[in-house]
This record gives sequence, structure tokens and C-alpha cells, in this order.
Amino acid sequence: MSATAPTPTSPVGPTPTPPPTAAEPAVLLDRVYRSYPDGSGTTAALAGVSLALAPGSFTAVMGPSGSGKSTLLNVSAGLDRPSSGRVVVGGSDLTAMSPDAVTRLRRDRIGFVFQAYNLVGHLTVAENIALPLLLGGREPDAHLRRYLVAAVGLEGLEDRLPGELSGGQAQRVAIARALITRPAVVFADEPTGALDSHTGGQVLEVLRSTAQTLQQTLVLVTHDAHVAAAADRVLFLADGLIAGHLDAPTTEQVTARMIELGR
Ligand SMILES: Nc1ncnc2c1ncn2[C@@H]1O[C@H](COP(=O)(O)OP(=O)(O)O)[C@@H](O)[C@H]1O
Ligand SMILES: [Mg+2]
Repeated sequence: MSATAPTPTSPVGPTPTPPPTAAEPAVLLDRVYRSYPDGSGTTAALAGVSLALAPGSFTAVMGPSGSGKSTLLNVSAGLDRPSSGRVVVGGSDLTAMSPDAVTRLRRDRIGFVFQAYNLVGHLTVAENIALPLLLGGREPDAHLRRYLVAAVGLEGLEDRLPGELSGGQAQRVAIARALITRPAVVFADEPTGALDSHTGGQVLEVLRSTAQTLQQTLVLVTHDAHVAAAADRVLFLADGLIAGHLDAPTTEQVTARMIELGR
């Protein structure tokens, strides 16, 4: 398969095709720091993180509690601002944009799945899924909504309220809601942390396969070595820094590295 689309003919001659390695990263962090006040001083939740994630890649983020995983996802998704450094998503520098512009970019280009589902209790499953589009003044795409409802296994449940769903079903709604805007990048912060391991495994498979079908970049915080082994790359965080990574690892390699890093 060719890595690049045909180059449109330009009036000044053909545009040189950049090598595939020059493709713009879907997510770029450049020396990102995020510190929080902590008693008399400050804690560095992120202490200088640089990374570049290729479009369509699947990255798992692992590390002990307090190592900065959630902060990494929050600053990458524009939910939080770094204290210093640059965050660039799809070529847009979030750290140079106004808060309103970041909100719009987040709504249009980024999906986020939280551990706690965060569904709106008085809206139906169908309404919860369509919510990001409605908030953005866009019409729900009926075809994509049907596709997502089927992909996450919620057919027949569209008229239920969140209170009538199991945890696994609620997280499937949250996944469909995160994908309904067709975001380029999907972040998921321990999305199965509140589910039993069987249900969690099913929900993760839904997230992974749907993101792959829609060619989305997926960044997933997980403690599960099996899940991480499905990723293209696993990033290990410790004390706000990237302590190592593994490319296309096996479950055994992930487990061994977790033990080395004191998990
Ligand atoms: N809003 C906050 N205020 C103060 N400290 C915070 C805040 N968020 C995170 N931290 C601190 O930053 C560090 C990293 O937190 P976090 O990113 O949540 O880690 P993880 O998700 O890996 O458990 C921790 O020491 C945590 O206490
Ligand atoms: Mg966390």
C-alpha cells in the first residue's frame, strides 16, 4: 500500500512527496511540565515529557499511581494546560490557542473516555451519544450513530436511561459518545477501571477495534498487560517522566517491564 495520497497537480509543478517519517504527528508533546502547588512548594506531575504519536497509532500508557498518567492525558487532550512546554494536536498548538479555541478543537477533534463514564442521567443512551454533536451545533450523523451503536453492542438499548444500564453498557455509551464526532485522537483514562475484568476486556476490544476501523489515534491508560500488549507502543511513566517504552511488545515483556519499574 502506498503511504501517501496522490499529489494534486500544482501550477508550479509537482510537490515533492515527503517521506512517511515526515508525517505530522497526531499528538506532539515538547518538553511538557505540569506542576501543582503542594504545601509550601510544588509537585511536578509532569517533569519534562516529550513524545510524538503517529496518526492511527495505538499507545498504551502504564505506570504506578501518581506517576502522571492522567495529567499526561489531560494536557494532551486540552483538558488541562501545561505549566510550560508545547502540546500540538493534529498540527494545532493547544498551548498557543485561546481557551475557547481549545474547547472547540477538543469538541471537534478529540474524544475522551473517563473511568467514571460521566453520562448525563436524564438523557437516553441515544441522546448521550449525540450530545457532543448537539453541543457543537451539529446534526447527528444517523449512519455513524447506527454504526457506533452496533459496534459497541448497544442495539435495542437506545431509549434507556443511564440508571438502567450496567457498568459495561454505560462505558460502551461513553465510548460511542467519544467517537460520534469522528475525532482524530481518542484518549481513554483507565476506561475499564470500574469494570470486572471480563467486561473490561470486552469494552477495551470495542474501543480498540472501533478506533482502528475509524483510523483514529488511540491513547489508553491501563494497568492490564494483556491490553497494553495489543498496542503499537507502551509508554511507561514514573515520577512525571517517561521511564521507558516497548514497541509491539508481548504480554510477557510488558509484565517484565512493569516488575522492573516497581509495579
Ligand atoms: N489537581 C491536582 N492538584 C494537585 N496535585 C495534583 C492534581 N492532579 C494531580 N496531582 C498530583 O500529580 C501527580 C500525578 O497525578 P496523576 O496524573 O493523577 O497520576 P496517575 O494518573 O498516574 O495516578 C500526583 O502526585 C498527584 O497527586
Ligand atoms: Mg490517573
